[in-house]
Amino acid sequence: MSTQPTAERMVALAAALRYHQHRYYILDDPEISDAEFDAIFQELQRLEAENPALASPNSPTVRVGGQIAERFEKVRHPGPILSLANAFAPEDMWAWRDRLRRLLPEDEQNRLAYVVEPKFDGLTVVLHYTNGDFVLGTTRGDGEVGENITPNLRTVRSLPLTIPIETEPIPQNAAPIPSPHSSVPAPTRLVIRGEAYVTVEDFDAFNRSQEEQGERTYANPRNFAAGSLRLLDSSISAGRPLRLWCYQALILEGVDPPPASHWDSLAYLRGLGLPVCPEVRRFSDDQFEALIDYLTHWHDLRARLPYELDGMVVKVDSLALQERLGFTGKDPRWAVAYKTGGEEAATKLLDITVKVGRTGAVTPNAVLAPVAIGGVTVSAATLHNEDYISELDIRVGDTVLVKRAGDVIPKVLRPLPELRDGSEQPWQMPATCPDCGQPLVRPEGEVATYCVNNACPAQLVRKVEYFVGKGSLDIAGFGSRQAELFVEQGFIHTLADIFDLPWETISQMEGYGEKRVENLRAAIEAAKARPAARLLTGLGIRFVGSTVAELVMAVYPDLPSLMAADEESLSAIEGIGPKIATSLVEFFARQPNRALIERFAALGVRMTGDARKMAAGTAQPLAGLTFVITGTLPTMGRDEAKEYIEARGGKVTGSVSAKTDFLLAGEKAGSKLEKAEKLGVPVLDEDGLRQKG
Ligand code: IVH
Repeated sequence: MSTQPTAERMVALAAALRYHQHRYYILDDPEISDAEFDAIFQELQRLEAENPALASPNSPTVRVGGQIAERFEKVRHPGPILSLANAFAPEDMWAWRDRLRRLLPEDEQNRLAYVVEPKFDGLTVVLHYTNGDFVLGTTRGDGEVGENITPNLRTVRSLPLTIPIETEPIPQNAAPIPSPHSSVPAPTRLVIRGEAYVTVEDFDAFNRSQEEQGERTYANPRNFAAGSLRLLDSSISAGRPLRLWCYQALILEGVDPPPASHWDSLAYLRGLGLPVCPEVRRFSDDQFEALIDYLTHWHDLRARLPYELDGMVVKVDSLALQERLGFTGKDPRWAVAYKTGGEEAATKLLDITVKVGRTGAVTPNAVLAPVAIGGVTVSAATLHNEDYISELDIRVGDTVLVKRAGDVIPKVLRPLPELRDGSEQPWQMPATCPDCGQPLVRPEGEVATYCVNNACPAQLVRKVEYFVGKGSLDIAGFGSRQAELFVEQGFIHTLADIFDLPWETISQMEGYGEKRVENLRAAIEAAKARPAARLLTGLGIRFVGSTVAELVMAVYPDLPSLMAADEESLSAIEGIGPKIATSLVEFFARQPNRALIERFAALGVRMTGDARKMAAGTAQPLAGLTFVITGTLPTMGRDEAKEYIEARGGKVTGSVSAKTDFLLAGEKAGSKLEKAEKLGVPVLDEDGLRQKG
């Protein structure tokens, strides 16, 4: 126990906490363990509870929140909180520089320099410090008036509640604590602009845990920051993993001489202990080419940073020149945001259409003015669901930011509201299905809207597409075109009709010549023989994809026995949880579904699975071994041999390499046998395979 007088002890504890919070949250270089930190924290909390008169409103203990507001008070900003004009290509940057130069006299033109920094993807906040104390924090609001969210901001750990932060270690028992050990005096008044943000990791973890608890998730880091800071109960904000970057001093008083450039003011803010992003670069005017090169590679920087960027910002460095250049409308002339490159591009959202999926879920899709992203022209993108559109306030006619990464469906990231001209229209989910005209339904608590009409032709087309698709029965020559045509012609009412098509009629149809019909028929015929796991996958039962289907069909010998299974025995299968078990049982409990399976069977579709997998038990004698099959085997067909190997845990690939463990060779083995011999890969015949497992 300390012998210090209580007031001094409290000051010392608070100073120690501030110092260690700064090391932890801003310098990312803690000196003490979490447990030691907690011990100091709890002692201060206890002393404050016992001596409320001595507790400071900016004590480090306020980080846990507690204040509950009824509503947010409106606060007028000391000056307009400007937004930024956008540039989408290097040409825009050159044009921006030309404009600056035209606006400045020649001697000033040569003194131009620029600072490039990340454009943080979060929520703008305005922070007020008076004589070193954090006294007020607001949202940007409309740029003129914001909302007072001080209690919530106090819970953001990287926001210093007092500045300057002690930069020297403070012995826990030092007494009395002198004024901070920093060489920088506190400014009498400081108003700064910053961005509250969240790291990608924290954001994902938060959304995952919310999802597990059935709570709301956020569409992107910006919504997360806004949602977390606009909570009326600050103790909930305290649990949100928000961080802060400060990037502009709006008002700075009591500092002599004041910093003359943006670069220097960032250094000054950093010196006060405020979180200033280290990823800033300064370029002189004759390095403008290098600046652009840096900008066009900004996604390299993004890939390296643990938080999302919304582009880069380029600012004229000299504060005097900034002032001279002034602003147009809401945008300063002296700064610009560079947004594109890499996987994202901005384009016009021409329309929003909805598409009915195979489950009846209706998804809104963006119709875009075609735009090149990473070498591919994109003219459509997903918009997920109704809430996504309303939360992001995406309007038809907006310029939107679109992302395309790899092979995934492009998505609309957000609108760029600063580019609106007033003609944009908010969007609403239509009341009826665009395909069947029946009313759409959004079940309570769900984000998805459904067409619940079982007879909706669009749903049936999607079901057929999925059934004949790669992961399911994989019928060559049967694609979306055939699915649409055959449903439209009334040839297909249930999935079983795929095996009972009116070939006479089809062969009379345009584009369906003899050869084509023959091939399609043969492909459908071949699909009948696929293991039942494929058929089960193709049914599109909720939660039952190909992996689950295979797990289940490795245990039940055929579909009729699976239909008879109860939840308990299904959940006993490794990898099958109660949700999947219930979904299967509910599906097979419905008479039309049972009738469907019976009809498949009557049409000669294979009902048996890979029960040999079960017969082989868990021993899996071929586990980890890779086989290549070649030539004609005496009794097994190629497919059969493949199934045999896979049922025992082995893998079959198409070509021989050094990684091949065995070549299974029959008669007329050709080049694969030669290659195996050359590489020293052992060769087995059918008997040899049976002996292995
Ligand atoms: S400077 C007048 N710098 O981007 C100066 N803004 O699209 C304007 N933002 O509302 C702001 N990172 O919230 C600036 N390093 C950065 C920024 C940044 C993110 C945000 C800011 C602003 C928006 C404009």
